Amino acid sequence: MHLPKQVRMVEVGPRDGLQNEAQLVPTATKIALIEQLADAGLSVVEAGSFVSPKWIPQMADTSEVLAGLTRKPGVSYPVLVPNMQGFAAALAAEVEEIAIFAAASESFSRRNINCSIAESLERFAPVAEGARRRGLRLRGYISCVVDCPYEGPIAPAAVADVAASLAALGCYELSLGDTIGTGTPARIQAMIERVAAAVPRERLAVHFHDTYGQALANILAALEQGVAVIDSSVAGLGGCPYAKGASGNVASEDVLYLLDGLGIRTGVAMARLAAAGRFVSQALGREPVSKVARALAAKAA
Ligand code: HMG
Ligand code: MG
Repeated sequence: MHLPKQVRMVEVGPRDGLQNEAQLVPTATKIALIEQLADAGLSVVEAGSFVSPKWIPQMADTSEVLAGLTRKPGVSYPVLVPNMQGFAAALAAEVEEIAIFAAASESFSRRNINCSIAESLERFAPVAEGARRRGLRLRGYISCVVDCPYEGPIAPAAVADVAASLAALGCYELSLGDTIGTGTPARIQAMIERVAAAVPRERLAVHFHDTYGQALANILAALEQGVAVIDSSVAGLGGCPYAKGASGNVASEDVLYLLDGLGIRTGVAMARLAAAGRFVSQALGREPVSKVARALAAKAA
């Protein structure tokens, strides 16, 4: 197996995880969680999103989260930005990195951000231009890279087209989202192969939800193809409010256990990561979804 020697783990729990929780998590808890994740060695911790509070009330306090956060040098705290209104809020919060988010499926684009794929790219263009002028780093997400909850299978060529458009807007990295977690390794590899013909694989990240328990297998498949950036969510928090039945992102603890076992460097400390997972799970009044977190807790008890 030829695998990368080093992987960057992108922690999305405070955004992708908490955006899907029915209960609103207090701002102070979010801040403590993000700080614990940065202290665990994660170099990217997604801190929230500047979207409509009517659509996603769980992220309505993103400005307050960023204002209260002690930012650690060398750590990036990106936020999702869907349009210029969100961009203005992100600038006011003095962020250094933003993420725009598109879909490879027309129906999902409509349900998630209320416009077609082409319209979303038009909306993102001034956001990307603003980011370039202000020197902000720009990341891009693509949802439904394997299947769409409304349309079924998505052609890899459709993913590659959106990837090429987002790369042309200036995204330094594209995160490929299996939003509903239906992918299996062969389909993931076929999709990455096709996307890599449009955007170099050094600029690709994978973002897998674990609905069908395939995320770790899919991550290994992506690693074998040279993808070295992996999105995950501490304690397996997450889901997607516009993808019915989608479960959380793959748990960061499980990803770290896999990478540690493969001898791949991440800079992330398991004990601290697991402690952050226990902290947020307690705040939500439940156990971490992560099997690794549960096994470690059972061993320590
Ligand atoms: P819209 O209704 O078409 O927008 O929503 P609009 O421009 O017509 O504005 C309507 C109202 O929204 C107005 O308020 C605006 O001020 C307000 P009103 O006059 O009615 O009081 N508004 C905003 N408020 C705050 N911040 C903003 C903003 N923009 C408009 N930026 C919009 C379009 C994109 C805003 C909406 O559809 C939205 O917020 N959607 C939420 C999308 C979202 O956050 N989804 C979850 C994240 S994506 C995801 O999880 C997938 C990912 O993890 C990868 C994967 O797993 O696949 C990334
Ligand atoms: Mg997601």
